[in-house]
Amino acid sequence: MASSPSAGPASRSSSPGTPLRVGVVGLGMGSVHVEAYAAMPDVEVVALAGKEVDRLAELGAQYAVPHLLADWADLVALPDLDIVSIATPNALHHPITMAALAAGKHVFCEKPLALDTAQAREMVAAAVEHDRVLEVAFNHRRRADVQYAKRYLDEVGIGRIYHARASWKRRAGIPGLRSWFTSKRMAGGGALIDLGPHVLDSLLFLLGERKVVAVSAVAHGELGRAGYGAMDRSEQMASDTGAFEVEDLASALFRFDDGSSAAFEITWAGHTVDDEDISIELLGVDGGLRLFVPRYASDDTLRIFRDVAGRPVDIAPDVHVPGGEHPLVIAEFIEHVRSGQWQHHRGDFALHRTEVLDACYRSAAEGREIRLEP
Ligand SMILES: NC(=O)c1ccc[n+]([C@@H]2O[C@H](COP(=O)([O-])OP(=O)(O)OC[C@H]3O[C@@H](n4cnc5c(N)ncnc54)[C@H](O)[C@@H]3O)[C@@H](O)[C@H]2O)c1
Repeated sequence: MASSPSAGPASRSSSPGTPLRVGVVGLGMGSVHVEAYAAMPDVEVVALAGKEVDRLAELGAQYAVPHLLADWADLVALPDLDIVSIATPNALHHPITMAALAAGKHVFCEKPLALDTAQAREMVAAAVEHDRVLEVAFNHRRRADVQYAKRYLDEVGIGRIYHARASWKRRAGIPGLRSWFTSKRMAGGGALIDLGPHVLDSLLFLLGERKVVAVSAVAHGELGRAGYGAMDRSEQMASDTGAFEVEDLASALFRFDDGSSAAFEITWAGHTVDDEDISIELLGVDGGLRLFVPRYASDDTLRIFRDVAGRPVDIAPDVHVPGGEHPLVIAEFIEHVRSGQWQHHRGDFALHRTEVLDACYRSAAEGREIRLEP
């Protein structure tokens, strides 16, 4: 059944052919949002907000954006906006989302949804209360190799998957060492909350959305504190607290509701061979599947392992990853807004991902296994 949107600025957003009016907050990843919206028919970027004055003017001119603003609150207050698209430091995701939903706007938010479970629950509840779409940018699952792996699992299968290993490991990849990314207050955490949402999302997607019921995790921030591991671009980013307050390594064991398990490890830095390597291995009773993406590789990233006539056989599907996953996710979000079926898109997927990451932080802080509330 279609939702019946309340009268208000966003009530026209389910009518096909009516241009949707978007405001984008943030000029880093936000510029990717602007480009994606601007390329879509019947979608207009009418407002842009960000602190970098020159970049704001440049993007505004490039995409002919009429409203250029320094602060998100002025953007959310614009009366004729249907959508607010958020690409700000993580700590602003919650206040901007809450204000935008209350003002009747649909929200597309960068990962992570929120700093913690309490915030995420409020955001999902607000999407329900105000009857609007809330969606999060999980673009990695849109990679062609992840999509193919899912299709293989659905159509062929590898038997019951009893264990998985998932990781994103960098050798020297702390984004903006001593910027907002390394501020506990602004980012909510380090490597785990930054890269973890993508790996966790792809893992849960491939596992058919089985639920994590318990986590046991550790977190370390040794390299960042010692001054190692910065990415090149860190110098270009504004300093916030001037301190490294977060983890550069987190490692966890997940227990799922069906008795299966996963080892999960995320690092921004490490004196080791791994250098921008993303890996998801699924171990099934009748076969295995390994996605291994070194340095954002776009070919030869997938292997399937089976026993055929008593001999081990490796399958290497010919899948090319063309890239450009963000526009796909944004196009899907626009489709959901247009569908009027808003009740299916309230950020629930993202909520479980935040619950799991939040439980990891609590487990690491308290030194014990944390069970998630059912
Ligand atoms: N999905 C992905 O693959 C992906 C990739 C990179 C970053 N991200 C996410 O995107 C978000 C932004 O990351 P980034 O790399 O673009 O960071 P960034 O530091 O490059 O950009 C943050 C932007 O927020 C703006 N901002 C800060 N305070 C503001 C305010 N009060 N009002 C208006 N604008 C304000 C800044 O001016 C800046 O333009 C983060 O949540 C990050 O996790 C997602």
